[in-house]
Amino acid sequence: MSAARHVAIIMDGNGRWAKRRHLPRAMGHRKGVEAVRALVRALKTIELECLTLYAFSSENWKRPEDEVDDLMDLMRRFIKSDLPEFIEHDVRLKIIGNWQALAPDIVEMLEDALRQTENGTRTLAVALNYGAQAEIVEAARKAAAAGEITERSLAAHLYTADLPPLDLLIRTSGEVRLSNFLLWQSAYAEMLFTDVLWPDFTPAHLLDALEHFAVRERRFGGR
Ligand code: IPE
Ligand code: IPE
Ligand code: MG
Repeated sequence: MSAARHVAIIMDGNGRWAKRRHLPRAMGHRKGVEAVRALVRALKTIELECLTLYAFSSENWKRPEDEVDDLMDLMRRFIKSDLPEFIEHDVRLKIIGNWQALAPDIVEMLEDALRQTENGTRTLAVALNYGAQAEIVEAARKAAAAGEITERSLAAHLYTADLPPLDLLIRTSGEVRLSNFLLWQSAYAEMLFTDVLWPDFTPAHLLDALEHFAVRERRFGGR
């Protein structure tokens, strides 16, 4: 039995949550941010070195402009309102993905947030404008430029190089796919797919997932 060190979550189902209530999608995203906030707060009592959250994929740009704008605005507001709490609770923020391509004011806010949280002991990694295939291609290029492509050299150039190995990947909303998230890192991760829609996901759901993880037998190909 061993405890998970690194959990990643594909936070899916905001749109369906809103639709079921005849609310605009934006409300679903807003509720989704509240679920993130509750989870980050709970990190102070949950033994976990790293939580990685898929917030915006490199494919999410395909959505209507007003939805993308809503999501970017939520991001701005979330960083502003929650940064003091990150600092207070010793959370180190890390951003994975091509986040430098986001709007300049968001990039600036993120750079500031990264600086202010760099000494945190637990990591909250947020995937923004993230796509795993692009991540792997980029890492392969860098590994090749440095002289050799091996599993180890490639992994050393992934965004996640400084994080513990991924133990558990959770996806909410009943979809059973990875949607271009952490493809390399998932090689031996345990997977949990739940029907709970992201805005309804609570710290208790995470604790439950961690308990189930702890009793799973991971073999890594051995026996
Ligand atoms: C996840 O919820 C949030 C993002 C992808 C940004 P969705 O917006 O994908 O919700 P559904 O899948 O339409 O229910
Ligand atoms: C994955 O959800 C991306 C995030 C949760 C940020 P999507 O809703 O974009 O995935 P698909 O399109 O259903 O595969
Ligand atoms: Mg979705």
